[in-house]
Amino acid sequence: MDIIKKIKEKKELSSLQDSFIQYIINKIKAKNERLLIKEARKELRRLYGSFQIKNAIKKREIYLNEILESLNKKEFNLEAHKNILKTHRSTKERLEIYEELYKNLPKFKTIQDLACGLNPFSLIFMKNLNIKYYALDIQCQELNLIKEYFKSIKNNFSEFDFEIKAINLFQKIPEIKTDLAFLFKFIDLLESKKEYKLSEEIIKNINANYLIVSFSKITLGRKKMHYPRRKWFELMLKRLNYNYKILEYENEIFYLISKTTH
Ligand SMILES: C[S@@+](CC[C@H](N)C(=O)[O-])C[C@H]1O[C@@H](n2cnc3c(N)ncnc32)[C@H](O)[C@@H]1O
Repeated sequence: MDIIKKIKEKKELSSLQDSFIQYIINKIKAKNERLLIKEARKELRRLYGSFQIKNAIKKREIYLNEILESLNKKEFNLEAHKNILKTHRSTKERLEIYEELYKNLPKFKTIQDLACGLNPFSLIFMKNLNIKYYALDIQCQELNLIKEYFKSIKNNFSEFDFEIKAINLFQKIPEIKTDLAFLFKFIDLLESKKEYKLSEEIIKNINANYLIVSFSKITLGRKKMHYPRRKWFELMLKRLNYNYKILEYENEIFYLISKTTH
């Protein structure tokens, strides 16, 4: 059996695209196949698998069906949206603040949600369907669910439009230009490996008037951080001449960055 197939035997990694797994394998130096598989799984869990809650794959399908049923009646089922958002750690931790957070969004017609996870299901809190939503992540179960969800919204509410794209942000930033971009809880993944240069390249190359970058205020050991503000990130924004505003909540800190001011 080949290495990729073996790695995908772990349920939480089974929906990942072979090319992304291969990309991760290529970066690992290991003495033998067993260690290579172990290290690759560890890295894929760090980047993707660790955010899934127990039995996420099955639960999401049930909640998505409930959402689709109500959309076909031109209704948004709030409970089912909340339930699906609870199957990913990042959106679960954000659930209580979505309404407040989205009141602070600048006006936009187009949005790109990079490394989106399940965040596009928070569309229900935006209270505006007259937008084009680009959802981007590595190919995974989340993207497939979002595709079904967005297709149904578009069928039932003609003002809404969307595109779904599989990307690897470590290799290439998409060339889409939008009014607003989200990059929620992704730079944390680079920060923990001290990949500041790559973080800067990504921030610089995202093509949007406004960019919102968020960081967790909870450590990997699930403790509250004493100093949740990211000084290195603030210094970088200053150096790049971007104006920014901070929105701070209990579990997450958001940098609302204007990319049009330099
Ligand atoms: C902590 S989760 C955040 C999800 C979402 N942004 C949120 O905050 O609700 C990190 C996300 O980054 C994605 N990801 C990891 N590596 C990636 C890469 N190289 N390119 C694009 N997305 C990646 C994962 O699939 C996962 O959805």
